[in-house]
Amino acid sequence: MVALIAKKRDGGEHTRAEIEQLVMGYVRGDVPDYQMAAWLMAAYLNGLTDTETLALTEVMAASGEQVDLSAIDAPTLDKHSTGGVGDKTSLVLVPLLAAGGIAIAKMSGRGLGFTGGTVDKLESIPGYRTELTAQEMIAQVRRIGCCLAGQSASLAPADKLLYALRDATATVESIPLIAASIMSKKLAGGARHILLDVKVGAGAFMTTHERAQQLAQTLVRIGTGAGRRTHAVLTDMSQPLGYTVGNAIEVREAIETLRPDGHAHPRFRELILHLAGQAFAMCGVEPSHDAGRARANTLLQSGAALEKFRQMVEAQGGEPRVVDEPSLLPHAPLVAELPAPTTGYVAEVHPRAVAHACLVMGAGRQKKEDTIDHAVGVEVLKSVGDSVQAGEPLLRVHARTETQLQQAQAILETAVRIVPEPVAPVPVILEA
Ligand code: URA
Repeated sequence: MVALIAKKRDGGEHTRAEIEQLVMGYVRGDVPDYQMAAWLMAAYLNGLTDTETLALTEVMAASGEQVDLSAIDAPTLDKHSTGGVGDKTSLVLVPLLAAGGIAIAKMSGRGLGFTGGTVDKLESIPGYRTELTAQEMIAQVRRIGCCLAGQSASLAPADKLLYALRDATATVESIPLIAASIMSKKLAGGARHILLDVKVGAGAFMTTHERAQQLAQTLVRIGTGAGRRTHAVLTDMSQPLGYTVGNAIEVREAIETLRPDGHAHPRFRELILHLAGQAFAMCGVEPSHDAGRARANTLLQSGAALEKFRQMVEAQGGEPRVVDEPSLLPHAPLVAELPAPTTGYVAEVHPRAVAHACLVMGAGRQKKEDTIDHAVGVEVLKSVGDSVQAGEPLLRVHARTETQLQQAQAILETAVRIVPEPVAPVPVILEA
């Protein structure tokens, strides 16, 4: 182990056998934390070559259960978002793609820090089971085309161990380590096609375009190197996505976006259509992105995507009536609006401020053990570029207690910046 640490410290390139020795030695408990931590720091500082990154990813993917989707006839796809504020994309995209003939066995995470987790959002649906075994997932996908569940603990256990160590040793922010971590779980998930939504901006993990681009390229090289058809899209996270940030209120917005007559946020709908167009094209369901987009639009307009969402909720033990009666979802007792202090144009809606307000109200976790209040959250009524009149509501806070409401209002006071001159709206798709 000392020789391997020295090799990376001195800028050498590991063989696949060496990476296997490192990672599996750590998983078995033969390699102690301090040696793995030293290696991680050497890898953080000196980087990993593409060959090393692919080997690391594949070794991590093979460290636990690997889902076998070969019994599924339809093209299989997995999607991943690097996370952001108000990112409820999977809730809409998964049933939409399944309604259009793509099989999607999606495993999602819980939220930690400023980004919410899809699993937490889903658990606001009464009865919805997020813990499915691989066999249950496969059976459900064969029956209705999709599932949306939590990540199985047996998937890529090496990543779980390494991530905890990176978190405690300031080695998280390394592009090859992040990319290997993300892709190990995608490879173990078994889908032949991988669609990646790499978020950029103040509300994302990658705050600059350049870093997001590097991450996207690394992710695609790994996926392609592992024999999966992989595509990455760079999308904007400089403001919250859609109208809502929270848990139940995001599920409500997802349902609204799926409804043929629903009030969808234009930027969120654009993201969904873009990703769906890409998915249908890359899976060969449609000949081009434009044709894929048109297919997605038809599935939304016909109600087929909404119907698939209802089937998925029912299949996972959730209350399917939430689709028609969103009042069955948890809702907070106190609702208050924040008015615009002046007339002008919205120049900024700060995603981290909105996320922070949600966090203090209990919509997210400050520590892993914290429980979530599914009912609380913030509605974002204006986007960058919108005009506003003084006194018009900008944000709507859903709180459980007066104290929470006041705390959230104090945080949100400076979240929306208004300027006198017109501001150009920010496109949601930055690189297709
Ligand atoms: N998300 C992951 O899954 N892994 C990382 O290392 C960072 C973000």
